[in-house]
Amino acid sequence: MFDLIGAAIGGYLLGSIPFGLVLTRAAGLGDIRAIGSGNIGATNVLRTGRKGLALATLLLDGGKGAIAALLALFVLGPQAMLVAAFAAVLGHNFPVWLSFKGGKGVATTLGTLMACSWPAGVACCVTWLAIAGLFRISSLAALVALAASPLYAWYFAGPETAAMAAGLALLGIFRHKANILRLVRGEEPRIGNKKS
Ligand code: G3P
Repeated sequence: MFDLIGAAIGGYLLGSIPFGLVLTRAAGLGDIRAIGSGNIGATNVLRTGRKGLALATLLLDGGKGAIAALLALFVLGPQAMLVAAFAAVLGHNFPVWLSFKGGKGVATTLGTLMACSWPAGVACCVTWLAIAGLFRISSLAALVALAASPLYAWYFAGPETAAMAAGLALLGIFRHKANILRLVRGEEPRIGNKKS
């Protein structure tokens, strides 16, 4: 039990590092929460016009989820990996350092899935890329990839990983409420459009 609590705390703390905010501030761009959608993720960092920073945010936000899950796996075992993975996304979405107002958790969810079941992670990334390529809307790609993730996780890794993925998918979809409303109204910006 203490193992799982430790995995949850470690995963949460690692996930709570707001790389998008840190990188844009370090680059002298101010507070990313005052730009575009106000989100701290890679899609919004891209709206600053700094592709390198957006890529770094994507990799670091995904990487922290993967590292949290893999550390827990190697130190504490497979159950702890799933707990740390979930907690890392909670940390990203509700970071204590930002008064619990964080991101939407897409990159971190993909990173944790890569670690928990790399084929499921790859399938989610391919889904994201396919939808983004077709429609050029990041949130739509994220929503479809999130919705598909429990199926991929079930197929490639089994029910426990699928349950974790389903929890993360529900959380991620819930965090996209504002995006869903904009999608319904046809007002969601396309990738490459710097306006929110
Ligand atoms: O990964 C977040 C993306 O799905 C939506 O980001 O900034 O358009 O709300 P944003």
